[in-house]
Parts: sequence; C-alpha cells; structure tokens
Amino acid sequence: MKSPLLNKFHAAQIEGKGNPMMQLKLLLLMLVVCATADYVRPPPRKTLSFPWSKKPSALPQQVHISLAGDKHMRISWVTSDKHSPSVVEYGTSPKNYCFSSRGESTTYSYLLYSSGKIHHTVIGPLEDDTLYFYRCGGKGPEFQLKTPPSQFPITFALAGDLGQTGWTKSTLDHINQCKYDIHMLPGDLSYADYIQHRWDTFGELVQPLASARPWMVTQGNHEKERIPFLEDSFKSYNSRWKMPYEESASSSNLYYSFEVAGVHTIMLGSYTDFDENSDQYTWLKADLSKVDRERTPWLLVLFHVPWYNSNEAHQGEGDDMKAAVEPLLHAAGVDLVFAGHVHAYERSNRVYNGKSDPCGAVHITIGDGGNREGLAHKYIDPQPEWSVFREASFGHGELRIVNSSHAYWSWHRNDDDEPVRSDQVWITSLSGSGCLPEKGQELRNIVMEP
Ligand SMILES: *[C@@H]1O[C@H](CO)[C@@H](O)[C@H](O)[C@H]1NC(C)=O
Repeated sequence: MKSPLLNKFHAAQIEGKGNPMMQLKLLLLMLVVCATADYVRPPPRKTLSFPWSKKPSALPQQVHISLAGDKHMRISWVTSDKHSPSVVEYGTSPKNYCFSSRGESTTYSYLLYSSGKIHHTVIGPLEDDTLYFYRCGGKGPEFQLKTPPSQFPITFALAGDLGQTGWTKSTLDHINQCKYDIHMLPGDLSYADYIQHRWDTFGELVQPLASARPWMVTQGNHEKERIPFLEDSFKSYNSRWKMPYEESASSSNLYYSFEVAGVHTIMLGSYTDFDENSDQYTWLKADLSKVDRERTPWLLVLFHVPWYNSNEAHQGEGDDMKAAVEPLLHAAGVDLVFAGHVHAYERSNRVYNGKSDPCGAVHITIGDGGNREGLAHKYIDPQPEWSVFREASFGHGELRIVNSSHAYWSWHRNDDDEPVRSDQVWITSLSGSGCLPEKGQELRNIVMEP
C-alpha cells in the first residue's frame, strides 16, 4: 500500500507547494489513514455510461476472439448491416492479408430488442506465438492478435464477474499492463440483466483486450436472462460468446474444453444439469478420460459458483454440484479450480471433500472483476482450515505456468488505481505426484466407472 499513498502525497505536495497548512493537513490525513487500517477498501464505482447507439453501417464492432481447436481462432463481431459478409482477412504483416476465411452469422431478438448481425469466423491454421493482423467484414480498422505459445511458459489472466463499471475499467487496464496469452473468465460478463443493449456496450468496453488475446469464458447467473414463457436461458450469451464446444465434442456452448501448450482446461456450467444422468456429466467423463497428462501435465477447471467459499455471500450454493462432480475431478487429479460469483478473492489449500488433501485441487474464487453490485465483505469466522487467503477487494489473477511441474499464481488487487500484488504462491502440478494413476488406461477406468 505504500507506494500509491506516497505517490498521492507527493502529487498533493507538488500541487500544494507553498501552502504549508495544506501540506500539514495532508500529512495528518496520511498518518491517520496509515495508522487506522492496512488497506482502505474502496467503494463500488458507478456503471460507466456509454453514448450507445445502433450504428447504421457495416462497421465491425465488439470484436472478440477465442480459441477454436488446435491452431485455430474464432473471430466474433457485430455489424448493424445485415448484408455485411462474415469474412476475416488476415496475415502476419500490417495491411497485407494473405489469407481469408468465411464464417457464419446469427441474430437474435429478445423482447423488443433485435441484435445486430453477429459474425463468427474461424481462421487458421495459425502459427504459434505469432502476431497476426486482421480485418473483419472487409471494412473498418485493422486489429492485432497474438496466438498462444505451443509450449511452456504460458500465462493466463483471470477475472470474473466483470460488469461495466469504473472498477471494471480499472481491472481491464491492469490486465492490459500484464504480459499474458489468454484471458479466462469464470462467468458473469456484462451484467446486462435483460437490458440487451448492455451486451453491446460490454462488447465495446472489452474490445481492446478481447480482440487481441483469446477470451475463454463460461457463464454465470447474469447470463441466464430467462423470462418464463417468453425467453429461454442464455439466449444472448450463446449468440454472442460462442466457445469451442463443437471442437471439444460437446453438444452445448455451456460446457467445453480446450488445450493449449501443456494445459487442458475444462469450462463447466453451474446452471446446467450436472447430475450423473445429465449430458454435461457424461461429456465431462468422456473429456477427462481423453486427458493425457504427459501431453498436458496441467489440468484446470472453471465454473461460476464456488465449491469452497468462506464468504457469507452465496454460502452453500455450490454444494449440489460439488457433491455430484467433485469425485470425478478428484479422480482425474485436477490441479486448479477457478470460480467467480462471490465478489471477493479467496484461495484454498489443495482440498477434497471439505478437507485439505494433498491430492485435491486448489480452489480460487476470483469474482472480483468490478461489477456494479460491489464487494462481498462478510466472512465466516473462524476461517476454515482449507482457506489460505481471503479478501474482499477488486482485482485480477495471473497464472504463469512455467513448466510441466511449476506454476506461479498471483492475485493483484486494484489498490485505488495501481495493481498491487497481494497474494502469490508456487503451485506444483499433480501430474508428477503419487496422486495420479500411472497409466492413462487406469485413469480412464476410474473416471468412466467411479
Ligand atoms: C520448473 O520450474 C521451477 C521453478 O522455476 C524449477 O525450480 C524447476 O527446476 C523447473 N523444472 C524443470 C523440469 O525444468
């Protein structure tokens, strides 16, 4: 906390130069602040207001990208013009597009709202760890993206429950300053909450980041937007944020997996059936049985509602899914589980079945992206034995997987407007441990017939 406060003090000193009374007051204020609290928690910030209007043109808007199978990337964008083609031109030098791909498009209506034309175009095969320049729909500005590396190290940025407030902006600015390959978001994107044009403003807000690095997302309660008899669940989310579910043999955009470098990541749906007879469960078993820990020593899982949460907010909401799915994840030796939903940060020990367990997963709640509902301040006392670090502040996380055995996790709180690293830990993969069956065959048996 020292540097931001001192910086402010210096700035104030410069402004207040020649005014000793002002300086004395500021010094007293700083002393009081420093003496009374380690960290002064900031209040929620207002929802950003955008001068949003439907632009009557073929201008590509709300550009975001996502991984779409080995060496491929899906480019998604919106145009008001329904005749604009779903074409992406791309290449490795500016304004020189050697390649082009044609994709698909969709539209949806929701109550009185009609969406623009939502384009999804897969490009590739692409080189690893390479900068590409691209243009959507044959018009408009050029964008740049970097493909992820095919080998370690690889860095993931994580922040859930984003919304579109001043804090969201601050979180995104901090993520933008970090060197990362992929953004992962464990649910609650726009906080549109039935007001559909807020999906459009969210798309514009995240475009600078989401057009440059893949955004791999899963859905939270704010994506549901179901109105009984009128509107189905996840209509807008599924139309706009198409993820590689077909590429990972899933029948639903609400759960899928992807592999990058030596990491297998599974995205699950907290609001989709997960019991033993469900499609999601069946798909998860099949997906886990295909994981080869020699090829992908790291196994990560994301979903929205945390299973290990000692905040009073949303207490117990993840229990049913935990009861149904945790044994599978444990049998497969999942390394890390990321969730959102609770607007705070928490990190656990390796844990299984409610207790610290060296063969369990590390659970991290990272629902502190900055939405308009504010932070969840109240914690259960005493802190459960499995809970290592918990704090109600906005921020983001970075997972740098350095090699097949070691990863460095850090959590960066938005300390006013500076990103301050507040929690960090080295995590070792279970793949080299005695927790896993030695042969893939055995794992397959355990997972398929638990
Ligand atoms: C992996 O990285 C860790 C941390 O930098 C290092 O101590 C370890 O020796 C590395 N392992 C291999 C196999 O390179």
